[in-house]
Amino acid sequence: MITLIVVLVLFLVWWLGKPKKIAFTAPGPKPWPIIGSLHLLGQHESPFEAFTALSKIYGDVFSITLGSTPCVVVNNFKLIREVLITKGAEFGGRPNFMRFHKLFGGDRNNSLALCDWSSLQKTRRSIARIYCAPKFTSLQYDDVNKVGTEAVEVLLVELRKQPMGQPVQVKPLILAACANMFTQYMCSTSFDYRNVEFQKIVRYFDEIFWEINQGYAVDFLPWLLPFYSGHMRKISDWASVIRKFILARIIDQHRASLDPGVPPKDFTDALLLHLEEDPNMNWQHIIFELEDFLGGHSAVGNLVMVTLTAIVKYPEIAKRIQAEVDSVTAGTRYPNLFDRSAMPFTEATLWETLRTASSPIVPHVATTDTEIDGYTVKKGTMVFVNNYELNVGADYWKNPQEFNPERFISEDGTIVKPSHFIPFSTGKRTCIGQRLVQCFSFIILATLLQHYDISSTDKCEVKPSCMAVPPDCFRLVFTPRQVH
Ligand code: HEM
Repeated sequence: MITLIVVLVLFLVWWLGKPKKIAFTAPGPKPWPIIGSLHLLGQHESPFEAFTALSKIYGDVFSITLGSTPCVVVNNFKLIREVLITKGAEFGGRPNFMRFHKLFGGDRNNSLALCDWSSLQKTRRSIARIYCAPKFTSLQYDDVNKVGTEAVEVLLVELRKQPMGQPVQVKPLILAACANMFTQYMCSTSFDYRNVEFQKIVRYFDEIFWEINQGYAVDFLPWLLPFYSGHMRKISDWASVIRKFILARIIDQHRASLDPGVPPKDFTDALLLHLEEDPNMNWQHIIFELEDFLGGHSAVGNLVMVTLTAIVKYPEIAKRIQAEVDSVTAGTRYPNLFDRSAMPFTEATLWETLRTASSPIVPHVATTDTEIDGYTVKKGTMVFVNNYELNVGADYWKNPQEFNPERFISEDGTIVKPSHFIPFSTGKRTCIGQRLVQCFSFIILATLLQHYDISSTDKCEVKPSCMAVPPDCFRLVFTPRQVH
């Protein structure tokens, strides 16, 4: 008996003294039944503002339950790097929102941006890289320049048909120009602005871009789905009209003329050739990849619209861009991409717009049990990267609330971007379209301001931390200027 007691006491001493591995979850607000902490996000204009406010209470990494989904929000650059770079492979998933499935033929893994990480995604990214991230010295860069400048000339022709000096609904025209830049560059095809089917798909792409940039309660409370059935049907319908158009007006022609013996003439040919060579790619992958990239034009068009709100609000910024473009072109030609290094203020205005619009990074999801800053993160946890804080936090910028493109220009007049400024994210899932965005938006902004003074009689409001403006938005007034 005594031996047994001694053994038990020794076991107890060993057990209590043994170092224990305790699973620490990051602190955070206590969830309410059913809705979790969704109500806390509703108290701010944007969820990202709510995240910043909550980080002041719970710290730079905190847990939050949205509906019944466990989430972690990461609020400083060091920890954001841990998620996106050091542990990028462990956070390569995406949320399973019903809306995402509806947009991509019932399976969000058809989409490049909304799929989980996979070897297929690696292949799809690598096919796209040469076209979507053209190097300065490449043939593709020359192509982007040519396509961009030609499409913007057509835009100028269309603008001249509008009543000058009066408010004009200009977004559809800018989007049509962007759409033609993308279809011409990626598919060697462009469309007349009056083509009704083209107008329709440009509109639907824009509706989808707006849609993807919104948050809905149903994303976290799927039992609300019956109340959203009409909305979900609308999303599926937009996507299927777009898909049919791409198939009939672009892919079918390319298939008929495809010659495997010659190098691909564009991105569509490259995708079709890949389909013939790679047993892991199927027909669906090709259609959805092309659709994803063509859809990128809405992002460019919306960025231009947001930039124009700044132009309207700060006329002195417009004047500086005009001075830059006039001095580079001497009024004898249109600006182009090879003028970029001589037009830092124009480029800096686009960066400053991206900073102040604080484009949110699509949520990531942990694909395995892992940690952030030592806190346990279970597989399936959704991770929000709060780049709103990186873009407007007082720790990162001087006078962050000021719209000041100068902050991106160094003393020697070149563009400088601090490493914490990641509007296109970083790591494995970084934006593939970022170079196209920079090129096309530069050409449009520089050319529009070369030819027009732009103002507005409408209230040009944009939502904080949102790159999208509503499909039906403010009108702008274009007044032709004397080109110097
Ligand atoms: C204003 C314009 C744009 C902004 C601010 C932007 C920003 C972003 C951001 C923040 C991400 C998420 C990265 C992550 O999850 O870590 C992303 C992903 C992506 N973007 Fe963009 N983007 C823009 C335009 C474009 C365009 C024009 C294209 C196509 C030509 C494009 C293609 C993609 C793709 C395919 C992904 C998904 C990458 C992946 O998940 O592997 N983006 N973008």
